[in-house]
Amino acid sequence: MTTRPYIVGNWKMHGTRAMLAEARAIDRAAERLLKVEVAIAPPFTLIHATRKEATLIAIGAQDCHPAEGGAHTGDVSAAMIKDAGAGFTIVGHSERRADHGESNALVKSKAHAVIDAGMNVIVCVGEIEAERDAGKAESVVTRQLKGSLPEGEDVAVNVTVAYEPVWAIGTGRTPTPDDVAAMHRHIRGVLNKFYGDAGAEVRILYGGSVKPENAAELLCADEVGGALVGGASLTAESFLGIIMAAAEGERD
Ligand code: PGA
Repeated sequence: MTTRPYIVGNWKMHGTRAMLAEARAIDRAAERLLKVEVAIAPPFTLIHATRKEATLIAIGAQDCHPAEGGAHTGDVSAAMIKDAGAGFTIVGHSERRADHGESNALVKSKAHAVIDAGMNVIVCVGEIEAERDAGKAESVVTRQLKGSLPEGEDVAVNVTVAYEPVWAIGTGRTPTPDDVAAMHRHIRGVLNKFYGDAGAEVRILYGGSVKPENAAELLCADEVGGALVGGASLTAESFLGIIMAAAEGERD
C-alpha cells in the first residue's frame, strides 16, 4: 500500500482542449514531486487527450453509468472510461447526488461497475450544513458510506473515500483541522467495520475549498490521506501549490 498523499483534481464541467496545457504543466512538475501521488479527473471529453498529454499522473472520470452498455443515451460506461485511458472514476459526488438525485444504492452500483472494469474508485460522502448544525454529520456520513461503498474485503484495495462537507464545496469555507480529523477518524472506524482488516488500507481524502494557503494544515490532520480539489485544480499554478504543500508535509 502506498502512503504517499493522494492529490486529485476534479475539473467538474470545466475544460476544453485549451486546458491541456495545464495538465501538461502539472504532469511535468509531478515528475519532481514523487512523494505525492497526483491525479486529474477532467470531463469525459478530455480523458483521452489528457492521458496522452500527461504520462505520469493518474487520469480519471467524474462519474459513470452502472451498466456495462446498452440503450442509455448520453451516458458513459466504466469500460468506455477505462478504454479512453482512465485509471479511476469518482462516484457519488454531492453535485451528482443533488443535481441528478443519485441515491446511495445507485452510487454503490456505479462503484462496483468501476471496479469490475478494472479501475479504482473514489466514493464521495459529506453532510450538508443543516445536518452538521443538528449534530448529525457523523450519522449522515455513516449512512452514506454503508449505502455507497462497494462490498467485499477484496475490493477495499481499489477504494478511496473522499469526505467533502457539502457546505465547504466551492464556498471558501472549511471545517477546522480538528473537525476534519474527527470526521476522518470516524470514517476510519466505519471502514474497519465494513471491510475488516482491509479497511485500514483505504485512503480518506478531504475535499471542499482546499487551496494552496490551507492545504498544509488540512493535509496534516489525523487520517487525512490527501485531497480532492475542485476550483483550485483548474490552473497548474494553484494545483501545484497544493501538491507542493503535500510534498513538504512528507519531508524527513
Ligand atoms: P472545491 O470543490 O475545491 O471547489 O471546493 C471540491 C469538490 O467538489 O470536489
